[in-house]
Amino acid sequence: MTTPIRHYLQFSDFSADEYAYLFQRAARIKSKFKTYEKHHTLADRTLAMIFEKASTRTRVSFEAGMYQLGGSVVNLTSGDSQLGRSEPIEDTARVISRMVDIVMIRTFEQTRIERFAEYSRVPVINGLTNEYHPCQILADLFTYIEHRGSIAGKTVAWVGDGNNMANTWLQAADILGFQVHVSTPRGYEVDEKLVAGTRKGAGNYRFFSDPLEACRGADLVTTDVWTSMGYEAENAERMKAFADWCVDADMMRAAKPDALFMHCLPAHRGEEVSAEVIDGPQSVVWDEAENRMHAQKALLEFLMLGRQSESQDGAA
Ligand code: CP
Ligand code: NVA
Repeated sequence: MTTPIRHYLQFSDFSADEYAYLFQRAARIKSKFKTYEKHHTLADRTLAMIFEKASTRTRVSFEAGMYQLGGSVVNLTSGDSQLGRSEPIEDTARVISRMVDIVMIRTFEQTRIERFAEYSRVPVINGLTNEYHPCQILADLFTYIEHRGSIAGKTVAWVGDGNNMANTWLQAADILGFQVHVSTPRGYEVDEKLVAGTRKGAGNYRFFSDPLEACRGADLVTTDVWTSMGYEAENAERMKAFADWCVDADMMRAAKPDALFMHCLPAHRGEEVSAEVIDGPQSVVWDEAENRMHAQKALLEFLMLGRQSESQDGAA
């Protein structure tokens, strides 16, 4: 009997127990990286990456991570592959997944990555869609745990757009048992249909029209760009609508004294966050960016080897 393929298309694809495993595994992988210890658990494996949107962190963290695991990487964009010349995503999935061991895709609609996964023979990872950004929240949670311990029972304040990051925070809150206080301008709220199916417990999501109130008593304050990739035509309109949703020192003062600040990056100082906050003592954005790589190395291992990667650790 063959084991069914596991994909990572949204945060709700894994259980709390699997996340606990991934966080401890990421910590182990990170500590080996810091001491230059060889960790070739994915020798001879190949990751294909398809970017239909721009990237700095996702590209570098997956590519460097895969090489550090002893594997190799193939990079494609819509511009330099037949995807840009209308080859169906289903055919692309059938072909690529016969040649590589795992695929990471950054694209527009979630349905596009779901269609790819349906026709793929190998695991598929969501490297960001319009709807979700699970790899980023995986890294953000790992970062929170490194700095403050378990996030269960804590409060995360989301200030800004009800976008792919906000949706993913809400999914994570249900699985890992924390609260999210969301404040968005009117018209930019989270699409509850996207998170409703995964929100088992009521009560871990509260909406605030005032962003400062959303931050009050929070353990973590986080935000993101006002205009996500794919929404550039709305930029001027968004600049006006979001003017009061800049995370500033007053908002951080409303949060707990030891609250952390996170931003998935790229950031726009003076728009969604003040320079004082992102460059200030509560900000952990650089750890957060670095942790993309360590968390995704744990994810790559888990999707290809399951938990047996742990037993290969000594030999790797
Ligand atoms: N945070 C993040 O996904 O960054 P990139 O767009 O640079 O990959
Ligand atoms: N919400 C942003 C995240 C960028 C990493 C976007 O989708 O563009």
